[in-house]
Amino acid sequence: MKILGIETSCDDTCASVIELKDEKDIEFLILSDIISSQIEVHKEWGGVYPSLARREHQKNLTSVLKESLGKSKLLKKKKSKEVIDRKPLEEILQREESLTNELIEFLSEYEKPDLNLIAVTSGPGLEPSLWTGINFTKALSSYWEIPIIPINHIEAHLTISFFSLDNNLLKINSDKDIFPGIGLIVSGGHTQLVLIKGIGDYKIIGETRDDAAGECFDKTARILGMEYPGGPEIAQKAAEHRGGIEISLPRPMTKTKNYDFSFSGLKTAVLYHHRSVFDPSEEYIRAMSYEIQQAIIDILIEKTLRAVNNFKAKSIILGGGVTSNKELQKQFIEKKDPKTKIFFPPAGSQMDNALMVAVVGYLKKKNSKKYKLKEIKANSNLKI
Ligand code: KG4
Ligand code: ZN
Repeated sequence: MKILGIETSCDDTCASVIELKDEKDIEFLILSDIISSQIEVHKEWGGVYPSLARREHQKNLTSVLKESLGKSKLLKKKKSKEVIDRKPLEEILQREESLTNELIEFLSEYEKPDLNLIAVTSGPGLEPSLWTGINFTKALSSYWEIPIIPINHIEAHLTISFFSLDNNLLKINSDKDIFPGIGLIVSGGHTQLVLIKGIGDYKIIGETRDDAAGECFDKTARILGMEYPGGPEIAQKAAEHRGGIEISLPRPMTKTKNYDFSFSGLKTAVLYHHRSVFDPSEEYIRAMSYEIQQAIIDILIEKTLRAVNNFKAKSIILGGGVTSNKELQKQFIEKKDPKTKIFFPPAGSQMDNALMVAVVGYLKKKNSKKYKLKEIKANSNLKI
């Protein structure tokens, strides 16, 4: 069984193909995992610009798909180019006009690939970007007659952390004594704490009331004059901090008894502090980066450990782009109870990717109905 995943919820155009190798132990071979980043396009704006993101997805999707299928050895040219009925495809792609010709050209040139399912992210995310991926996938599903399944992006970020990567083999964790677990999603768009009773059994117990943790990294980085996305550069400067200048930022909402977060006060504190510095030195940038990172880590760890305690959780499961932060990983491992198990996304799967979408596609397929195309819609606020 082979599954194609498509992900376009934010600023990465992604396609991945996985092959089920072991149904009982849930083991997949990764045939391809293509990520086409739009960072260069969005840098100029200091963040993701939705209509630009959509345009880039339209521009990239067919070539990303072609690369993914090619790498998976699933691309076979037709003996001669076929004349295909454009009408039904044009109807599905009405709002994605700029990719229609390229996709129809591709479909007329290549055979139907050996795929059993196509999984596509339907939310949450930027609505125009989500629609482009969905309409593209609907066109493929309709022309190739392959079932389609909509996937929740947050669920995908969480679920991939139950897998470990060994060469190109993705294996599900065999330890069954990990539930209930507490999931922490930290990305550019989301910060949520989730009670996990089993894989796929997720309930949000808290979330950010304003900015997401990744957004806080990105916005404070921008204040310091760094480029988008700022998380990696803040982390790098923080690692170079050698003491000297000491800065103290607030840790909003850490003492409140709920599981919600707030990061906008932290951002404002950075802004005011930065304004008060006449000529920011490199040493100041390092000290400020260090304190921003530490404040975000302190908030995330404090709230997560409180949830672990209160729900008597046996494990912590982290997901999303911010989990690539090495210091966050290290401090979570140091500060949790040694008995609490901890899971991070496999290397290379922290940021947005379609591999996680294909994996959840497989896991959900078993209990899922057969979707009609018109039932699949983008939902920018989709909850798990
Ligand atoms: O999950 P993701 O790829 O996209 C969303 O769904 O939002 O996460 C992207 C976010 C960005 O905000 C980026 O700054 C942050 O992850 N990020 C990091 C690091 N690498 C990426 N934040 C802190 N430290 C990092 N090393
Ligand atoms: Zn994401």
